[in-house]
Amino acid sequence: MNFPSPDWAAVRAQFPILTQVQDNGEPLLYFDSAASSQKPQVVIEALTRFYEHDNANVHRGFYELSARATEHYEAARGRVAHFIGAEDSEIVFTRGTTEAINLVAFAWCRKNLRPGDVILLTELEHHSNLVPWQLAAERHGATLRFVTVLGDDGSLDEAAVPGLLTEEVKLFAFPHISNSLGTITPAEDWCALARNRGIITLVDGAQSVGHIPVNVKELGCDFLAFSGHKICGPTGIGALYGTAQALADMPPFHGGGEMIESVQYERSTYREAPARFEAGTPPIAGAIGLAAACDYLAALGMEAIAAHDEILTARLVDTLNRIDGVRAIGPQGKRGALSSFIMDGVHPHDLVTFASGRGLALRGGHHCTQPLMRKLKLPGTARASLYFYNTEEEIDRLGEILTDTRRYFA
Ligand code: ALA
Repeated sequence: MNFPSPDWAAVRAQFPILTQVQDNGEPLLYFDSAASSQKPQVVIEALTRFYEHDNANVHRGFYELSARATEHYEAARGRVAHFIGAEDSEIVFTRGTTEAINLVAFAWCRKNLRPGDVILLTELEHHSNLVPWQLAAERHGATLRFVTVLGDDGSLDEAAVPGLLTEEVKLFAFPHISNSLGTITPAEDWCALARNRGIITLVDGAQSVGHIPVNVKELGCDFLAFSGHKICGPTGIGALYGTAQALADMPPFHGGGEMIESVQYERSTYREAPARFEAGTPPIAGAIGLAAACDYLAALGMEAIAAHDEILTARLVDTLNRIDGVRAIGPQGKRGALSSFIMDGVHPHDLVTFASGRGLALRGGHHCTQPLMRKLKLPGTARASLYFYNTEEEIDRLGEILTDTRRYFA
């Protein structure tokens, strides 16, 4: 380990929400960070500061406040770009991962997808990296093809990928880290393989950005989508990274103010990216909050965060597997900072509801991966997901609560 490790207890103290006692008198044990992370004081303050001092619309007003808001908004783009090793002009602010993927599925496919073309995905996809491609395939007469999941260890048939990337494949979209099983895909290798064959890649970074160091130039993807609220930022903000070439190869997505060059009653011309994809008033405060989150994570150190996540996740999986009647699903080795699990004879919804009575915040259900659950013949799973602010003591307490849950339902 050749990077400084923060004092994680002091870091945790920067998250005001984590000290709360819930209405039922139990202290909060937050294990749902894959759904949405908690926010440090510095992000909350960045939002407050913006609304108290700088709030106005951007790119429009010829007065000081608007100039300042514009300056902060565009500076936020630069800070977010820097966080993932991109250029400022390669970042489009969106509402989140879902909107970023829909943007590409609509705009890129509108220009580039033809009948008979194929979009390659994996069987791990979150609905947000599946349904937009289904809609695009329907619109353009294309079909979807999938890299197969081999079992509930979440492994993919990686050996089949070179054979699946045939010349009909125009775009390969895949998760960097699976939200329901935690599988880490060989993203760099896949991007290189696709690029050599002239195939565009989109990496769903919703569960990787903010958890492991991500540099888009090293990754070699054409597009990367991620959300602010999963990486200590506000809700309603995310980003689409696209190479200059990939962004230039897309017509507009939403129409409206700010994305135009010139408008007549019958037709319009459009600005260059990223402005072309940011119609209307953008999520200004959200972008500034996201930039504060990126700076915060960068200051902690992404290597240190990844290493700490890894230690906590190993303890989580071990804790789950030690409980009688509980089985962790997903890779037994390196994985994202989460574990799905099942408890014999207990439906995941009953499990998470019971556990919530003890202060434990888990997610239960299909995790927006219905086809994957069906394939694995699971009614759904319970999922514990964590972040660097969780503690080993919390994981031990999670183990005790799940042991009690099992006893209660036995
Ligand atoms: N995609 C988020 C999750 O996996 C909502 O929980």
